[in-house]
Amino acid sequence: MITRRGFMQVIGGGFASAVALGGYAFAVEPLARLRIAHYSLTPPGWTPGLKLRVVAIADLHACEPWMSARRIASICTRANELGGDVTVLLGDYASGMNLVTRYVHSSEWSKALSALEAPLGVHAVMGNHDWWEDRTAQKNGGGETFGHRALVEVGISVYSNRAIRLEKDGLGFWIAGLEDQLALLPGKKWKRSAMGGLDDLDGTLAQVTDEAPIILLAHEPDIFPKVPARVSLTLSGHTHGGQVRFIGHSPVVPSRFGDRYAYGHIVEEERNLIVSGGLGCSIAPIRFGVPPEIVVVDLG
Ligand SMILES: [Fe+2]
Repeated sequence: MITRRGFMQVIGGGFASAVALGGYAFAVEPLARLRIAHYSLTPPGWTPGLKLRVVAIADLHACEPWMSARRIASICTRANELGGDVTVLLGDYASGMNLVTRYVHSSEWSKALSALEAPLGVHAVMGNHDWWEDRTAQKNGGGETFGHRALVEVGISVYSNRAIRLEKDGLGFWIAGLEDQLALLPGKKWKRSAMGGLDDLDGTLAQVTDEAPIILLAHEPDIFPKVPARVSLTLSGHTHGGQVRFIGHSPVVPSRFGDRYAYGHIVEEERNLIVSGGLGCSIAPIRFGVPPEIVVVDLG
């Protein structure tokens, strides 16, 4: 946490020496741009006649000045205008950065998100930063985080290895939400020698009781090689497209598969994954070639 004055000094010092490109990556792209990433697909086995628009919001990383509650509210207004049948939130609501003038409390970002509206509801999963910033949850090694509670309090359903069946025009489909794959930090104080996940893919998919298509929400795309073809579409965030992306390549991606699942629509063995570039920043407030985005997927 730094003071506003310290922050202005960082900004001032940065601008004094930065080239115009640096200024763009630091101030313009992360703060001023918002684009819509639109995909249309008919996955194998999709129910004929089921036309479904999914609007997805990922990686807000609420903190000031980069992602204030006010900015989240304006993103939600834009998301509502996109006319989704269903809206999904893909995790990482918590900041994940030190270069901030103020942290935005979970009660503030969740209140902003409560403006989201969709006929078939708003459905959320958690991300690694939501777990990492909750010391009690780290100590407990499971259960729920302050993020889970904040979302539930504003009426947004949170999926922690859970699947539910929804219907549009009498045709069913499933939303399955995975708990985070990097939830538990390693460390002596937590009595853990390695990073631990709380995801249970088999247990989540076992709740599906009919042949209706499944949409899987999984914060990190790294689960994708294990996702069976029975799942029509996996929706992920987490990578921010690397935050820096040149001509379809991201040099630094927080994934054990490197660039493979960094961004966009990926098809492997007829299985579909869409990775959102997200909206906020983590580690450093820089974006280049991956402007903040809301994802719209038209299925059917
Ligand atoms: Fe993440």
